[in-house]
Amino acid sequence: MSTKKVAVLVGSLRDASVTRKLAKALAAVAPETLSFTFVEIGDLPHYNEDLETETPPAAWTRFREDIKGTDAVLIISPEYNRGVPGALKNAIDVGSRPWGKAVWAGKPAAIATASPGALGGYGVNHQLRQILNVFGMPILPTEVYISGLYDLFDDNGNLAKEDTQGFLTSIMKGFEDWISKHS
Ligand code: FNR
Repeated sequence: MSTKKVAVLVGSLRDASVTRKLAKALAAVAPETLSFTFVEIGDLPHYNEDLETETPPAAWTRFREDIKGTDAVLIISPEYNRGVPGALKNAIDVGSRPWGKAVWAGKPAAIATASPGALGGYGVNHQLRQILNVFGMPILPTEVYISGLYDLFDDNGNLAKEDTQGFLTSIMKGFEDWISKHS
């Protein structure tokens, strides 16, 4: 199988984000046929149709080109107030326009959500599924909710439990199969 490029979007912007560590752990256990680019979302101006001119904000153009250059999208996010963090929703909106030119269209996607508590971002996970459906994205059916986020890594930054590693590995193998089926 040829190498497939996967864009990774992380829903937390903070420097010490554990969700980002989780994203890196997922990339690390993925099959070698997948390569990962973390596409940053923190510098995207709020979506505003008035800025959708022949010269839109440079950060929007950079973001759209980055996503266009990939074969699939992996979204890893915490939940904010039972929903999608604003920065992530903004990034999805930026990628959705100009009308008819959504960079998301048809790209296979996987969603993983996480929380320090027990629910694993159930709310945000399903909101993301609903949103990505708009673009006809084939979404990996496996529902990935990671609870106990703050206990996931030990003091050395390694996954604290062996079974977590196995779980993450199986998700990424499933995603590889999913991408190949929908490419
Ligand atoms: C949260 N948090 C949170 N957690 C949760 O499980 N459900 C929720 O609805 C919310 N709401 C919420 C709103 C806002 C504005 C913040 C800042 C936080 C806690 C959240 O899960 C936690 O901060 C992140 O998981 C931390 O992840 P990072 O930043 O370490 O990746």
